[in-house]
Amino acid sequence: MNPSLFRTQIIPFVEMFILLIMLAIIADFLLHQLDMVWIGRYLGIPGTLLILLSFPYSLRKRKLIHSGHPKLLLSLHELLAWGGALMILVHAGIHFYAILPWLAVIAMLINVISGLTGKFLLEKSRYQLSSKKEQLSQQGLSESAIEKEIFWDALTLETIKKWRAVHFPITLAFGILALSHIFSIFLFWQWR
Ligand code: HEM
Repeated sequence: MNPSLFRTQIIPFVEMFILLIMLAIIADFLLHQLDMVWIGRYLGIPGTLLILLSFPYSLRKRKLIHSGHPKLLLSLHELLAWGGALMILVHAGIHFYAILPWLAVIAMLINVISGLTGKFLLEKSRYQLSSKKEQLSQQGLSESAIEKEIFWDALTLETIKKWRAVHFPITLAFGILALSHIFSIFLFWQWR
């Protein structure tokens, strides 16, 4: 029997997200302990650059560029966006002075979640569900018995599909919020 989607897909997905948050907390804690909080402030720049460098995959997917192996670009997209998000989280730290950059962080985290949804859940789940269906039909189960058997997995997959639809609009919101923050920093901020 196929292991359930929940155990094989959702748990690793949650783990990647928890790892991101844990590493950010540890890095921020260490920077505070070592009195090097200024490093976090500058991490905004490489973090933003990494996120920007992760974009060729999206451009390739929408056929705005035509070179580059999609699979390789996808791996780079995932790695760079995850690394960039980590740097931005350390950059945000535990300071709360302005609302706008925090909204950008929230949009970024929703984005990471919807991106991870694509990676861990959608593709593998789709494959797993169809192989489970095939296996059940080979065992001679009727159409309705198969439907009943895969009901919860199919429901999980449907939810995942809807969830992934937020990836693009949230990216847009993230981009606008992050740009406004960066713009205002360069216009008004006194770098100490
Ligand atoms: C070129 C890129 C960036 C630069 C130069 C930059 C610069 C800065 C600076 C100088 C601060 C310090 C403000 C202070 O100490 O009071 C800051 C704070 C912050 N930044 Fe950025 N940032 C960048 C990108 C980002 C991005 C992409 C995000 C979010 C997705 C972000 C989120 C934040 C947050 C949440 C804070 C803390 C705000 C607060 O104190 O309430 N930054 N940034």
